[in-house]
Amino acid sequence: HGTQVVNRQGHLEIGGCDTVELAKQFGTPLYVVDEVHIRKICKEYHSYFVKGMDNTEVIYASKAFSTLAMCRIIEEEGLGLDVVSGGELYTALQADFSPEHIYFHGNNKSREELSMAIKSGVGRIVIDNFGEMSVLNDLAKELNQQVRVLLRITPGIEAHTHEYIQTGQIDSKFGFTLSDGTADRAFDLALASSNLEVKGLHAHIGSQIFELASFKNEVKIMIKYMADIYGRTNCLLEELNIGGGFGIYYASGDEPAKIADYAKVVEAALEDGCKSHNFPRPKIIIEPGRSIVGTAGITLYTIGSIKEIPGVRKYVAVDGGMTDNPRPSLYQARYEAILANRPQEAVSESVSVAGKCCESGDMLIWDIDLPKVTAGDLLAVSATGAYNYSMSSNYNRLPRPAVILVKDGQADIIVRQETYSDLLRNDVLPDHLKR
Ligand code: LLP
Repeated sequence: HGTQVVNRQGHLEIGGCDTVELAKQFGTPLYVVDEVHIRKICKEYHSYFVKGMDNTEVIYASKAFSTLAMCRIIEEEGLGLDVVSGGELYTALQADFSPEHIYFHGNNKSREELSMAIKSGVGRIVIDNFGEMSVLNDLAKELNQQVRVLLRITPGIEAHTHEYIQTGQIDSKFGFTLSDGTADRAFDLALASSNLEVKGLHAHIGSQIFELASFKNEVKIMIKYMADIYGRTNCLLEELNIGGGFGIYYASGDEPAKIADYAKVVEAALEDGCKSHNFPRPKIIIEPGRSIVGTAGITLYTIGSIKEIPGVRKYVAVDGGMTDNPRPSLYQARYEAILANRPQEAVSESVSVAGKCCESGDMLIWDIDLPKVTAGDLLAVSATGAYNYSMSSNYNRLPRPAVILVKDGQADIIVRQETYSDLLRNDVLPDHLKR
C-alpha cells in the first residue's frame, strides 16, 4: 500500500519514515497516515471524475477520518467534504474549509446542527426525512435564508456487503423510499417549502462495494426517477449525488475495482440513462470516504503477552485492540499484518492477534501467518486509515493513540496521544463525593 517499503535497516518504512523509529519516538499503539498516498488517491479521483467527466464533484466523506490536517489536505486537493454531524462540521470549519463545498448529511440532525449548517453557509443540506424538512424550512425562514438542499432517496438496491453497512435497501433508516411514493411526497413538499431550494437528489447504497454494477444500477434508477419527476412536475433537477462506497483491499480475497473503471461505469450509466429517458445530464457528485484514506493508514502495535494453547491456538496480544480498531469485532472485518521490525523474515507460525480489552471478542486478526513472534516485536496492521481513529473509543479507559502524518521522511503529529488526564477531562465529582 502507498509508500510502504522495506528500508536498509530491514524495517518497514512508510512515507520515508522507519516504523521502528516512529514507535520509539511516539510510542504504540500508533496510527500512521501516509500523506503522499492520500494525495495520490485524491488526484486519481480528481483526474477520472472531475477532469475526465463533465460537471462532476468529488467530496470526501469525512466520517472515515476527520481531523484538521485531513480537511486541509482534502481542500488542497480540490475535493469537497461530506459531514454528518455538528462535530464534523465544526472540524471542517475550524480547518477553514470553504463552507460552499461542504455537504451536510445525517438521518437525525438536531435543530442546533441544522442551524449551525445554515449559519455557516454549507453548500448543500441533504434532507433525510419529513421531520427534518419542516424543521429546516422553519429555521431557514427564521434566519431569512434560502437553503439549497438535496433529498436523500432510498433506491432499493442491495449492494453485496456486510448488512450493517448496506444502506440502499428498502428497509433502511435512511432517506425517502422510492418505490412506495414516499419520495414523490417528499419532493412535492420540498418544492412547496418557502425557504428550501431543491437542487437535486442523493442516494448511497452501501460501503466497501466491489461490484461496479451496483453503482450502475443506482445511477440508472436515479436518472429514471429524475426524469419521472420532470415528467410529473416539470421541475428539472440538476444534481445527482450517488454517495460513496467504493471498496478497498484489506485482506486476501478482496478484489477492489479501479477508480478509472468506477468512473467509466458511472459515465456509461449516466449517458445511457439520460439518453433513454431523454433527460439532460445532471451534475454528478460522489462521496468516497474509505477509498481515500483507508489504505493510507497503518497501525503500529507492540506485541506483549503470548499465550499458546497446545494444539489449539497461539494468542499474541498487542497494546491496543477494539478501542483503536473496532471493525473486526463490529463487522468481522479482516486485516493483514506484518512484523514491522523484521518484515522480510519468512513466516513460520499461525497466530491470532488479540487486543488488550477485557473481553474475548477483542480480537484483531484470527489465524495469520507470521515469523516466530516474541514480546517486543512491532506489528503493523495495514489499511487502518478509514473508520479506525474515527470510530475509536476509550473503553477500559484506554487513551486513544496519536495519529502521525508521514511524508518524505518527515513525521508530524496531527492528533496528540490522549493522556490519563484527558480521560478525566469531563469527569465531575458531585459535592457529596468530594474529599
Ligand atoms: N456517503 C454517505 C451518505 C455515507 O453514508 C457514507 C458511509 C459515505 C458516503 C462514505 O462511504 P465509503 O466511501 O467510506 O464507503 N463504519 C463502517 C462504514 C460505514 C459507512 C457509513 N456511510 C466501516 O467501518 O466499514
